Amino acid sequence: MTICYTLSQLSETLASFPKDIQTGFVPTMGALHEGHISLVKRAAEDCREVVVSIFVNPTQFNNLDDLAKYPRTVEQDCLMLEKAGATVVFIPSENEIYPQKDERVFDLGELDKYGEGPRRPGHFNGVAQVVTRLFDLVKPGYAYFGEKDFQQLAIIRYFAAKLKYPVKIVSCPTVRESDGLAMSSRNMLLSADHRAAAPSIYKALKKAADITSAQNLSLNCPAPEELAEIVAGEINSNPLLKTEYVEIVNAITLKPVKSWEEADEIQLCTAVFAGKVRLIDNQKLK
Ligand code: PAF
Repeated sequence: MTICYTLSQLSETLASFPKDIQTGFVPTMGALHEGHISLVKRAAEDCREVVVSIFVNPTQFNNLDDLAKYPRTVEQDCLMLEKAGATVVFIPSENEIYPQKDERVFDLGELDKYGEGPRRPGHFNGVAQVVTRLFDLVKPGYAYFGEKDFQQLAIIRYFAAKLKYPVKIVSCPTVRESDGLAMSSRNMLLSADHRAAAPSIYKALKKAADITSAQNLSLNCPAPEELAEIVAGEINSNPLLKTEYVEIVNAITLKPVKSWEEADEIQLCTAVFAGKVRLIDNQKLK
């Protein structure tokens, strides 16, 4: 596995790849866990060369404290990546990614109007800045993203298509701890008590999925807004958890739905504070 710190090291390495192959790419912010590793393994199944970037992107943080606290475990990350089948790790400095301030404002197709968008102003524009910059540098044929970041995935698909990047966006299922908590780099910031409370989030999401599937979205099924309240109540019944939002949305437009007939695919998305740590999760309902 080759480790590149600079753009010139990266382009030299990419130039050594055979011309007729498609590169797999997994962008990350490091602090890797089995969720990231599942993306790398999937990429290694599909592609001979797998580039993983580790870059804590400052432009997607709207809170400086969150940026400072973001866990950094680069040495351990590299060991995990080598085992998982990555062939190149790109660990650029901020200067390499942003030699000048990135002023670009992206069309995100209004997919940032709901959910995380209004709660983290500028976040998705920052994601678009770094992902397009990395796509320009790595020029991947395939790029892999986790379904845990459901809204991010929809937004990346949107701008990659709109800007005509010749890359196939591959989505991979959320990886969970044995107690159901979605894997996230932020989990390592949880206190023992909050860690013990956090699996209640997934339990509440599963309950919503059980209600919608058992009632087959019939008239007996609570309306989406009502079900969102039931889920929020369930999560908030644990005094260590506080929902920021629970939204039941059209899985394509991400707009909250008022009825189950309004969309063919419906997803429940939530953000929950466990103490100071903000966790997100989602569940398909239709
Ligand atoms: O999902 C993440 O870890 C980040 O948002 C990404 C896609 C690596 C961009 O910094």
